[in-house]
Amino acid sequence: MSGVGSKILVLHGPNLNLLGTREPEIYGSDTLQDVDKGLNLLAQELGVELDTFQSNHEGELIDRIHAARGQGVCGILINPGGLTHTSVALRDALAAVVIPAVEVHLSNVHARESFRHHSYISPVAVGQICGFGVASYHLALRGLMMHLTK
Ligand code: DQA
Repeated sequence: MSGVGSKILVLHGPNLNLLGTREPEIYGSDTLQDVDKGLNLLAQELGVELDTFQSNHEGELIDRIHAARGQGVCGILINPGGLTHTSVALRDALAAVVIPAVEVHLSNVHARESFRHHSYISPVAVGQICGFGVASYHLALRGLMMHLTK
């Protein structure tokens, strides 16, 4: 990929800033910085630029999704955190911009509490990757790139 539209927007939702100390038995001991570092290495290997952003605020995530259209973003990697299970507005933002998105989770949300089994995001995503810890992000980036270059 080259020129306009060669950037991937990586969005981390609420509480993911606490990775490393937050319920490490579920989410592992890597920090968000570690996650972004690993993703950036993979992005270099795949020849794509990443723009990463974390927010605990739904509206800020939505604003970044809206802005992506004018910023040459060709794909979105999103871990919406708890907003996965609650946010119609985040889902509508992704549907509105029509930029292919992959939903990612560190934990296997389907093997956890029943309120985590439903995602408002999955129906507007290319696909969902969950349960592989930090590797979920890597698999999701590879999947998104395959989708964009097929
Ligand atoms: C999560 C799973 C969500 O259910 C939870 O609210 C999170 C993290 C994950 O990456 O496993 O904040 O998205």
